[in-house]
Formats: sequence, structure tokens, C-alpha cells
Amino acid sequence: MIFHDLHHEEENFYQEVQKGLLKANKKLPPKFFYDRLGSDLFSQITSLPEYYLTRTELNILHHQGESIGKLLPENLIIVEYGCGSSEKIFHLLNVLRSPSSYVAIDISREHLLDLAKGLVSDFPKLEIIAICADFTKKFNLPLNGKHQNLPRLAFFPGSSIGNFEPEGAQAFLQQIADEMGPGGGLLIGVDLKKPDDVLHQAYNDQQGLTARFNKNVLKRINRELGGNFDLGKFQHRAFYNPTEGRIEMHLESMEDQCIPINGYKVEFSQGETIHTENSYKYHISEFQNLAASAGWSAQAVWTDPKKFFSLQYFISNK
Ligand code: AVI
Repeated sequence: MIFHDLHHEEENFYQEVQKGLLKANKKLPPKFFYDRLGSDLFSQITSLPEYYLTRTELNILHHQGESIGKLLPENLIIVEYGCGSSEKIFHLLNVLRSPSSYVAIDISREHLLDLAKGLVSDFPKLEIIAICADFTKKFNLPLNGKHQNLPRLAFFPGSSIGNFEPEGAQAFLQQIADEMGPGGGLLIGVDLKKPDDVLHQAYNDQQGLTARFNKNVLKRINRELGGNFDLGKFQHRAFYNPTEGRIEMHLESMEDQCIPINGYKVEFSQGETIHTENSYKYHISEFQNLAASAGWSAQAVWTDPKKFFSLQYFISNK
């Protein structure tokens, strides 16, 4: 296993929080959910009965793995952007025909190394390269001469693309197309539009894990930035916005309040919210059009019987 550490800059948590909370419409970027506790809560969310996304994507990989494996080229270099669970890549590697290398990119050093080390014994012939980096920022993949003529496949499961705004998603898909090179492939998990009540339950689970995940960002501001949020005075709000085609997550202030945060104050009126996340849902054709605008041409789509989730395969036409 080869390890490259390309993540040198610290994200500017203080400045981004201040900028987001002093806006007329308060918002925080969803990337701040994922400290150690937030990542752990998200991992618990993926096993909830209401959160169909992870389970359905894994079922697609299970049941349609053979047809996926047949369509993808031999000797692939697979580049996974943000490695979530090892289960998905494990299934994919098992159905591919003699994959040559697996490149795992993730911002969390410990998580990345655990995942990469875990795969070494399962796939002894596979070259494994772990890169600690923020994959949303452009960087050169450290692939050398021997990798030059091998086909590349970007793997981006979990519908994480749904957490980008459509313009950001287009820019990111373009960046991946550049990194995969001419003729490169993209296998991406995309959550689909469906009845509102199914979506509503997935983001408003009975155990309240999603509410804890959402409020964790306030906990983090208290701990790391000297904030004074009382978590009991905010409530989790998640709803489907049909005009925008997205689940919106907010934290709603339950009363008028003023929160001092190490040098500045944030005023809330009762009912005012901090917008913490969007999770876009697509029709298959909508996503194919978005990908086409970023240089990808659609090859195949695999879904589950209820058409809740999709795995989509594209080839770069750049
Ligand atoms: C990581 N991402 C795809 C999740 C989603 O469904 O948008 C994050 C999440 N937010 C609330 N629950 C899960």
C-alpha cells in the first residue's frame, strides 16, 4: 500500500462559520458535519430502516454486480472520491475483471488508512494507493508511467453528488473528467426523485439520529470556536422542496435569542433557521443531462425494483 499525504492546509472553520451565520439567510456548509462524532453519526444513519439510500445502493451492487462487471473494462485503475464504507468498494472489486489499481482519496487520514489496510489482505494482487486530500479541490493524481495506458474509472457512490449545488456538481464532474482522461469512466450513485413521504422519513428518522447529526454542527462550534449554542433551543427541520428537487435541512431557533461566539454575536428570531444542507434528488434523465454538460456520455443505469436509487455509468467524451 502506498500513502500520499496531500492535505496540508487546515480548513478555515472560524471564518466560514462567521461568514455563514452573519448572512441575512443564515447557512453553514454541510462539510462541517463530519468531525469524528458527525462521521460516526452518519455511519449509524446509513443503517437506519428509514435511510434507504445506502442499503439500496448496496443491493444494486449485489444483484447487478455481474452485469456491471461485464460492462466495465479489464485492468481498470479505480479512483474512489471520498471513501465511505469498505463494503461498496469490496463488492465492486469483486465483480471487476482483474482490476490493476485502487486509488482511495479521503480527507480523513485515519479512516482512509483503515480502509486501505483492510483491503490489502482481501486483494493481494491489487495495487492500493491511499491519498489524503480534499477531493473537491483540483490536484494531480500521483499515477506514473506504468499507469499511463490503463483505463481509469472514477467511483463516486452514496449520492454525495446530491450535496453539491447543481453548478458545483457540474464543475466537480468536469474536474473528474479531466482526471480520468479521454475515454475514462465514471460509476456514480445518484438518489432518485420519489414520493415525498419516503424522502421525509429518510431525513426525519424516529430515533432522532439525523436530528443529532444536524445539531452536531452547533456542538462543534461550541467546542472548537467557543460558541454558546444551547442545543435544546434549536430543532431539526428537514423537508422536501419540490421546486428545487431537494431535501433541505435546517436548524430552527425555538425562541428569540442572541448567541455570542468568541468575538461576535448572532441574533435569532423565533422560527428563523440556519440552512445546513441540501440533498438533491434527480430523475435519471436530469442527471444524465447534468453529466453531459460536464463532458460525460451515458452508457448504462442500474436501479432497484422501486427505482429509489441508481448507479449510473458514463464515459468521458473529452
Ligand atoms: C452524505 N450524503 C449523501 C447524505 C445525504 O443523504 O444527503 C448526508 C445526510 N444528511 C442527512 N442524512 C444523511
